[in-house]
Amino acid sequence: MATAAPPVRLYLALCWLLRSASTVFPEEPGPLNFVPSEVVRRYPVFLGRPHRTWLRQEPLHIQRVLQINRTLYIGARDDLFRVELDIVAGDEMFYSKKRTWESNKNDIRICRMKGKHEDECRNFMKVLLSRRGGLFVCGTNAFNPLCANYTGDTLEMVGDPVSGMARCPYDPKHANVALFAEGNLFTATVTDFLAIDAVIYRSLGDSPALRTVKHDSKWFREPYFVSAVEWGPHIYFFFREIAMEFNYLEKVVVSRVARVCKRDLGGSQRVLEKQWTSFLKARLNCSVPGDSHFYFNLLHSTSPVIRMHGRDIILGVFSTPPNSIPGSAVCAFDMEQLAQVFEGRFKEQKSPESIWTPVPDELIPKPRPGGCAVQGSRFNSSNSFPDEMLNFVKTHPLMNEAVPSLGQRPWIVRTMVRLDE
Ligand SMILES: *[C@@H]1O[C@H](CO)[C@@H](O)[C@H](O)[C@H]1NC(C)=O
Ligand SMILES: *[C@@H]1O[C@H](CO)[C@@H](O)[C@H](O)[C@H]1NC(C)=O
Ligand SMILES: *[C@@H]1O[C@H](CO)[C@@H](O)[C@H](O)[C@H]1NC(C)=O
Ligand SMILES: *[C@@H]1O[C@H](CO)[C@@H](O)[C@H](O)[C@H]1NC(C)=O
Repeated sequence: MATAAPPVRLYLALCWLLRSASTVFPEEPGPLNFVPSEVVRRYPVFLGRPHRTWLRQEPLHIQRVLQINRTLYIGARDDLFRVELDIVAGDEMFYSKKRTWESNKNDIRICRMKGKHEDECRNFMKVLLSRRGGLFVCGTNAFNPLCANYTGDTLEMVGDPVSGMARCPYDPKHANVALFAEGNLFTATVTDFLAIDAVIYRSLGDSPALRTVKHDSKWFREPYFVSAVEWGPHIYFFFREIAMEFNYLEKVVVSRVARVCKRDLGGSQRVLEKQWTSFLKARLNCSVPGDSHFYFNLLHSTSPVIRMHGRDIILGVFSTPPNSIPGSAVCAFDMEQLAQVFEGRFKEQKSPESIWTPVPDELIPKPRPGGCAVQGSRFNSSNSFPDEMLNFVKTHPLMNEAVPSLGQRPWIVRTMVRLDE
């Protein structure tokens, strides 16, 4: 990490700023660690100014940062900035372009009527992606989310905005993820004002729009979405949520990875119509082995997929929950091993009182639930999957085995106590 290239260092410095800025939201967890200010001071900062003499009146509220070549795009509250990384003046970066995208008076009025604070009834840019040479941006728009295309150079809106529902959260406090793959937008967010309906959604491409099953705690239970990556025929989503597979009285949060087939076309007219037929999820196991197993259950962020020693690897930063021994860890996961878990056993709860157990192999329908449709095979489209198989996917989204971390232990651990080896 110490040898990070200059743009990466700038970006890191920015992320630290972003992290400390995010603590204004009560639902966001605090940073796991602080970089001392004398370290941050060594890197140029972005204060939302076009030049040194111009004074910015309002805090920035940075939501998203996107780097394309030597240009940094920054999505903040009501403002979108373009910053050239090669034009850094000493200790500060200045923007070369700023575009303001504010909510209109009517949206703000309705937002205020619904009891939201005026600081929340603004346009927080929660999706910022590169799309065909331009940008695709979504903002919370005073709890009435909108998405629009922008030009990358002049930051001008192209065409009319479309609804941001299921693409962008209503509330700036909510975590969401978004990426484009094969011309489709894949998003993980909440679709409603009250943030009850969590969704993984595909839209805007040539394929039909698909979503996860609504209000089914087997699929999601208060998820907090962290990241998404495209890998092979799937999109993988990393998140944390309240576990449903423990019979404890208290709520336990665990980290997960879920995946869907990029080319899923949804189920039959009877089962899972316009919903994923390939949604499966598994627990991520970031733990220190020993007599009493010590788990880092809360995922905070992941790296992109990194090629290392001939393997595709993803790194995750985890922590313990707030009511536990304070600690954080970095675990690595081999993507091949991770994908393998989805070929393993499924987990089920036979009745509301019974404990969760693996489904015996002979009870798994064919073709294998959760698989992608294969061209040229009998089931060449997910609409043609048998109902029995679709019903199984609908009721068994959770895998029995957790994804093991590489080396069965974290690569880095920080705790207040010594953990038994
Ligand atoms: C970024 O750089 C690559 C390689 O030089 C180039 O092909 C691409 O068009 C650039 N992207 C943008 C948005 O300028
Ligand atoms: C944005 O641009 C894409 C591709 O150029 C286009 O298909 C789409 O209709 C545009 N508008 C929105 C709101 O996505
Ligand atoms: C699937 O196969 C049927 C005939 O076996 C064909 O008519 C149909 O177009 C195929 N669908 C896809 C998506 O390839
Ligand atoms: C997590 O990994 C450890 C070490 O390999 C293992 O002992 C433990 O059973 C695993 N936990 C789960 C929930 O799979």
